[in-house]
Amino acid sequence: MKVGVLTGGGDCPGLNAVIRAVVRKGTQEYGCEFVGFKDGWRGAVEGDTVPLGIPAVRGILPRGGTILGSSRTNPFKEENGVRRIKENLAKYEVEALVAIGGEDTLGVAAKLHGEYGIPCVGVPKTIDNDLSATDYTFGFDTAVGIATEAIDRLHTTAESHMRVLVVEVMGRHAGWIALHSGLAGGANVILIPEQRFDLDQVCAWVTSRFKASYAPIVVVAEGAMPRDGEMVLKDATTDSFGHVRLSGVGEWLAKEIEARTGKEARTTVLGHIQRGGTPSAFDRWLATRFGLHAIDAVHEGDFGKMVALKGTDIVRVPIADATAKLKTVDPALYREVGVFFG
Ligand code: F6P
Repeated sequence: MKVGVLTGGGDCPGLNAVIRAVVRKGTQEYGCEFVGFKDGWRGAVEGDTVPLGIPAVRGILPRGGTILGSSRTNPFKEENGVRRIKENLAKYEVEALVAIGGEDTLGVAAKLHGEYGIPCVGVPKTIDNDLSATDYTFGFDTAVGIATEAIDRLHTTAESHMRVLVVEVMGRHAGWIALHSGLAGGANVILIPEQRFDLDQVCAWVTSRFKASYAPIVVVAEGAMPRDGEMVLKDATTDSFGHVRLSGVGEWLAKEIEARTGKEARTTVLGHIQRGGTPSAFDRWLATRFGLHAIDAVHEGDFGKMVALKGTDIVRVPIADATAKLKTVDPALYREVGVFFG
């Protein structure tokens, strides 16, 4: 059987570990052959392929990024996108697709399978950890580790100058990275997209931290928003998903904190550093297991499914379950962490 593999959406540490596991097990146990589609769905639509076999996956386990390249191309937004994918699958004699991606990539896989009968198996990835139906996505642990290390480092410089250090982490719609790294790094304020924040309350926490002779660290997810409607309208933009956002919320927050508390504030935006470089051991473990189970699903003809982590088991769920709704931070969990604020 010939299997197509693609990686779509924002890249993420661990993608190569999945590709390696799929190809190694597929070749050695099931006698599969592989073809890599370049840059996610773009390669499938345009017939842009790379050879994929054991030699191509040698040495890639610890490498960040993806050897297949990635893009946010959506075939349903391309002219004759689905027809072209079908033609290319026939041309390259591909009988099944392993689609490794987040909400958008998997949404396409679910539709291609459900509405057009294209045999797809999904593998969930995102550093944001906001996909339903899996306890964790790979890439998240690496991102949290990088953000935590940054927060640790920012503590010492904040204290030397008695400044407020605002750290902006990724997470447009979910605050998982902010919550986990903020807790692990001992932040004094954590702000997430799921809960609008009260600027007066944030400033009160900052002030109380200074009163205790410490310099505060404020971790803010890029999608976090203040409560004040007018302020938001003045500075907000609408992102490509139609969500209202304050682009540069970290900078904005530092300016407001400085103006309101009279304390010097600085911002560090971690950005794509959280997505680059080598995956953590946990992410290698999870990505490898996802890959092994994905090729099992292909071999068994169990299409329209996505591999997922439940506890310590890898299970299969309908791909559509993962994309129906984002997994966001529960208010009770956020309240639990709030005991450390201020
Ligand atoms: O979904 C992963 C993610 O890293 C988000 O946390 C972030 O908002 C977004 O991708 C950034 O996307 P891009 O790299 O396309 O700017």
